[in-house]
Amino acid sequence: MKGRRLAAVVVTLLFVFTSLSLVSAQQKTITVGVSWANFQEERWKIDEAAIKAALAKAGARYVSADAQSSNEKQISDVEGLIARGVNALIILAWDKDAVLPAVNKAKAEKIPVIGYDRLIETPGVFYITFDNREVGRMQAREVFKVRPKGNYVFIKGSSTDPNADFVHGGQLDILGAAIKKGDIKVVGEQYTDGWRPEVAQKNMEQILTRTNNKVDAVVSSNDGMAGGVIAALAAVGLAGKVPVSGQDGDIVALNHVAKGNQTVSVWKDARDLGRAAGEVAVALARGTALNKVKGAVKFKGPRGVTMDSILLKPVPIVFGNLDLVIKAKWATKAQVCQGVNPAKAPPACK
Ligand code: GAL
Repeated sequence: MKGRRLAAVVVTLLFVFTSLSLVSAQQKTITVGVSWANFQEERWKIDEAAIKAALAKAGARYVSADAQSSNEKQISDVEGLIARGVNALIILAWDKDAVLPAVNKAKAEKIPVIGYDRLIETPGVFYITFDNREVGRMQAREVFKVRPKGNYVFIKGSSTDPNADFVHGGQLDILGAAIKKGDIKVVGEQYTDGWRPEVAQKNMEQILTRTNNKVDAVVSSNDGMAGGVIAALAAVGLAGKVPVSGQDGDIVALNHVAKGNQTVSVWKDARDLGRAAGEVAVALARGTALNKVKGAVKFKGPRGVTMDSILLKPVPIVFGNLDLVIKAKWATKAQVCQGVNPAKAPPACK
């Protein structure tokens, strides 16, 4: 009898201890490291604020490093974050291939990695992004609506970023048939180093010179580059006459949409992306399996690797629905409508 009671006490104590240690494992302060690729670009500050807020809500710590557009620095940044004892990593890759050795180090240390916004195509990495192919389709759809025929230019993103080809693939989903038919003639197509606006502007200037300004539409893959394109068009009196696309919902671009210089900015609410990454990082750090993350779906990369991922839905912002970004407090009315001619103002600026 006594023996049995003792056994019962031991079992109870064991149970209490294991539950306690489980609780403390779950409550251990988690540190999430973020490796940025090129933080000087406008949008990433918004992403960062959202990641930080999500981590703070979960009681997790945020540490970060900025590779400043350097492959070497990104590798040493990730190593540095690992050395600081991070429990999960969020990586915005500057170069999808160059970053792999660093990702492998994290994997070897069993630190979960999230490929943020840009695909890092390797097994065991979680991928969080917007549906980039759909971004390209939305851009092309809006430009095609206003210019179903003519000489088209494609200003593509950085060739080291898989998003450049995903977005362009989406553009061709929409425009491919018209290109084949000959309604659309591609008179220029160019990758843009580092997605840099000044590089896009220079490329656009050269295309204009080469074609004798015979350009009817420009499908630019993001807003920064669209700004460069619009500057080049303005120099030859074509701004506002030639449709131009973009993405990111950059304030300057939204203002260009309001002024009629840009046809569409595909808006990817970086606040949603950042929040998702913060939440998933904490879940992975606490031991959630990649395929058990809430909302995770399979994504097959161009090299055939199937990855667990979250793909958010973008929204095309055009002249007629600029109020969406204002209502969502993404931009203020003053920012969107600055300098807009009242006679030609979009509904959101009235
Ligand atoms: C891409 C991203 C775009 C844009 C670009 C600029 O990877 O998908 O939204 O921000 O980077 O760096």
